[in-house]
Amino acid sequence: MSIENLKEKEFLIKINEAKTLAEIESLKSEIFGKNGLMTHEFKKLGSLPEEKRKDFAKKLNELKSNFINLIDDKIFEFENKEIENKLKQEKVDITLPIRPHQRGKIHPVSQVIDEISSIFSEIGFSVAEGPDVETEYNNFTALNTPDHHPARDMHDTFYLDKNKRLLLRTHTSPVQIRTMMSQKPPFKIIVPGRTYRCDSDQTHAPMFHQLEGLHIDKNITMGHLKGCLNHFIKEFFEIKNVKMRFRPSHFPFTEPSAEVDIGYKIENGRIVVGEGDKWLEILGCGMVHPNVLKNVKVNNKKYKGFAFGIGIDRLAMLKYGINDLRAFFETDYRWLSHFGFDPLDVPTNYRGLSK
Ligand code: PHE
Repeated sequence: MSIENLKEKEFLIKINEAKTLAEIESLKSEIFGKNGLMTHEFKKLGSLPEEKRKDFAKKLNELKSNFINLIDDKIFEFENKEIENKLKQEKVDITLPIRPHQRGKIHPVSQVIDEISSIFSEIGFSVAEGPDVETEYNNFTALNTPDHHPARDMHDTFYLDKNKRLLLRTHTSPVQIRTMMSQKPPFKIIVPGRTYRCDSDQTHAPMFHQLEGLHIDKNITMGHLKGCLNHFIKEFFEIKNVKMRFRPSHFPFTEPSAEVDIGYKIENGRIVVGEGDKWLEILGCGMVHPNVLKNVKVNNKKYKGFAFGIGIDRLAMLKYGINDLRAFFETDYRWLSHFGFDPLDVPTNYRGLSK
């Protein structure tokens, strides 16, 4: 029996002349399929006399790898051609004009984060970040909030495991811990980010945004904190005089602690910030508790400072007259095109933050 009988030449020619991937695939199954040529020939081996079998098997195997190589080369060639064609067809003409009515807008929350970052960066703060999924240690324990502290309930935490080791951070304060553990004092940072609490109504969402501030150095006092926040509020609302009050409060990680309210009034159905006899709470703050500094191995005899946590969404609502927090997260394009901002108008202090 010779290889000629296997129609070797006929198939070699067919493979070479194949014009499409489908043709090659069908030749492949004609040769190697269940009733294919090679399968059929290999079956014959068993009935051959001993002395011929070895020789024939050798030739069959050579032919098999010859076929396989040829077929694989062809498949590779066709696949490459297909990719090339696809690339040619999918070419994007970036010189075409944009569609005038479908321009993206910057979300008010992003806008406000940019505005706040711009104000604080001008007075020497840099931006730090941390993950949304936190350890219970960074979110509570290191912040002087031990296991059975009532503040842990107050926070309505979303825990991620049965042992309550991992959670969605309830505030941006754990980034104080991350920063102080990984760097050396002095610290002067702000931390914008997402935070989570199990809460939902017109002014509370289960996911909301905070901006943490931390300034630790050798001679930082409560006076610096007041000056810093006063400057921030004036710049943010773009007004000269702001009615502002510090109300004694409690946070486990600051001592003393305060909450800051700003004065406002309603005029012709619109909120006017900075005057009037109504008060609105916008942030929590205080002098960083010596225990927190001890936990992150910062010398609390030498260093002290302040921290604050601002509710970003609330500030955005106030400044831009948005009265339902939930609208922020509904991704309604009509809402966004009304309240959103031009992407090319990056807020800067000297040009006016929101003009
Ligand atoms: N983390 C506090 C909160 O979420 C706010 C805060 C930050 C208070 C820093 C004091 C200092 O309510």
